[in-house]
Amino acid sequence: MDLRPLDIRPDSSVVVLTGAGISAESGIATFRDSGGLWEQHDVRQVATPEGFAANPDLVWRFYSERRRQARTVEPNAGHFAMAALERFLAARGRFTLVTQNVDGLHQRAGSRRILPVHGSLYRTRCANVDCENGSKSWDDESLHLDGAPHCHKCGGLLRPDIVWFGEYLDPAIESAAREAIADCDLFLAVGTSGAVWPVAGYVEIALARGALTVLVNLERPENVSRFSEVHLGKAAELLPLLLPGA
Ligand code: OAD
Ligand code: ZN
Repeated sequence: MDLRPLDIRPDSSVVVLTGAGISAESGIATFRDSGGLWEQHDVRQVATPEGFAANPDLVWRFYSERRRQARTVEPNAGHFAMAALERFLAARGRFTLVTQNVDGLHQRAGSRRILPVHGSLYRTRCANVDCENGSKSWDDESLHLDGAPHCHKCGGLLRPDIVWFGEYLDPAIESAAREAIADCDLFLAVGTSGAVWPVAGYVEIALARGALTVLVNLERPENVSRFSEVHLGKAAELLPLLLPGA
């Protein structure tokens, strides 16, 4: 493929935003593509606080299945290219990886500076805001296929540490993402449909700062006009050619 690498130098300041598309070639279904998760599951039932209140067992079955499946797959060349970029910039540049993915594949590929804006599949917390466990979450790989687990402190329900529709992002993670984007030379979005807010608006922060905005995606997403450079194709094929350090 005849593709010129992006102009990234060792002292560049880069923010990458990833979505489900970067994990597609690892074998994890995206959300909105045909055959995606939101075609097979009702978002309101499995990814809202109201759905959890109505049927926590169903919600835990859904996320337990995601936990089980994400463990059986491996990071792909796109995830590894991202980790290589971070190493390339480590000495003199700045790198932040803002990911909407909860699958843990970036971490497993060796990325370090990650802001997981939609939470993590492998963390759990108490759903009761008044619990002395508070809002703290903890590592948890366990599967709950037969019913929702309960908190040993307050007896209330535990929940996956994932940001659902209608919920706010973690304020510390959100502000760290916004600050990094407000200070970058290059904003690179990979494998995301640009349909979910507030993250879909992050490209505006980069544009306001005068950063170059680049998109790598299989198809043209809703906010494609906000990118000055668009590479259509598979992340695992394109990223190793576009990024230095790989
Ligand atoms: P989507 O499923 O909405 O979009 C995935 C995007 O990746 C689409 O635009 C595809 O064209 C593209 N794509 C698919 N395969 C690709 C490949 N191999 N290489 C590159 N691009 C590819 O997923 P997200 O944008 O991540 O939130 O969705 C955002 C949020 O909505 C998710 O974090 C999730 C979901 O509801 C929560 O669960 C809270
Ligand atoms: Zn509790």
